[in-house]
Amino acid sequence: MESLKARIETLTQEIKSIVPANAEELEAYRIRFLGTKGLVRDVFGGMKDVPAEQKKEAGQLLNAFKQLAEAHYESFSHLQQGNAGNASFADFSLPGADIALGTRHPLRIVENKIVEIFERLGFAVAEGPEIEDDWHNFTSLNMPEDHTARDMQDTFYVAQNPDWLLRTHTSSVQARVLEEGKLPVRVICPGRVYRNETISARAHCFFHQCEGLYIDENVSFADLKQTLYAFVTEMFGPDIRVRFRPSYFPFTEPSAEMDISCTVCGGSGCSLCKHTGWVEILGCGMVHPDLLRNFNIDPEKYSGFAFGMGVERITQIRYQVNDLRLYSQNDVRFLRQFTTNT
Ligand code: PHE
Repeated sequence: MESLKARIETLTQEIKSIVPANAEELEAYRIRFLGTKGLVRDVFGGMKDVPAEQKKEAGQLLNAFKQLAEAHYESFSHLQQGNAGNASFADFSLPGADIALGTRHPLRIVENKIVEIFERLGFAVAEGPEIEDDWHNFTSLNMPEDHTARDMQDTFYVAQNPDWLLRTHTSSVQARVLEEGKLPVRVICPGRVYRNETISARAHCFFHQCEGLYIDENVSFADLKQTLYAFVTEMFGPDIRVRFRPSYFPFTEPSAEMDISCTVCGGSGCSLCKHTGWVEILGCGMVHPDLLRNFNIDPEKYSGFAFGMGVERITQIRYQVNDLRLYSQNDVRFLRQFTTNT
């Protein structure tokens, strides 16, 4: 046993002193220590002379020695033939494995475009939560609990708290901006909204909006018209004509729907404009004085306008997509058709 220990000790020292400089020297080390006739095997052969009661201890020593010999070899494995080439001649300028480039979602392309146009007109982007409370989504906007206008915006409520709901429009973000109390306000609010609708080609339980709000001293309906006219000519081209039809929203007075001349037929009649020559694109109006009062803003001093458009609607007009469901089906054959340049 003692002689075995001494031998292992000597060989360990020897192994540690060997520093192979190339593949040949490494191979010579391997043959000497780890080969079938190598020293590691040879030392293992010494087991048979160890008395039975010491075999366990000897076994542990031998195993540790074998692991050391192998680890020493591994630590020089970069010298092995083949590996050596890789280590010294790796060409880091070679192109990597390709990752296929995706395309932006059509709704995102259009939303970006809308935001970009309004940013140039001086609007800042404001965002807010998709799970809202009743106050920000309805009540503060002149839609108290029993208001019939709520019927048009039935939504999903959060079971945990009956006051919480999925926002039905991004006007809720405008409420949050007004709450901050800083005037003037000029914001655009893009985002996803929800309504309890049966899913079909023309309606979905969620869609996207971009709403805008402008409040300052002396803001008039003329400002509203000119701002939205500037927007549509940027979005659809300089030949677009617009018309305003009286409408109703609880949060604006007066209120209007804005139509643009049909981008497909130019006014002569087609399926997009249902043969009227006009396509409705947004709702708008002058902010109701009661709403300003809800946010402690003096309607004698300040006035403003608001508008809201559906991103799906603008996208449909731009790309002639006739089925709303396509936007959320994630079919790459549909999605790949859109690029940021179209
Ligand atoms: N919030 C309205 C809707 O979702 C749109 C709108 C916004 C209308 C602002 C007028 C003014 O239908």
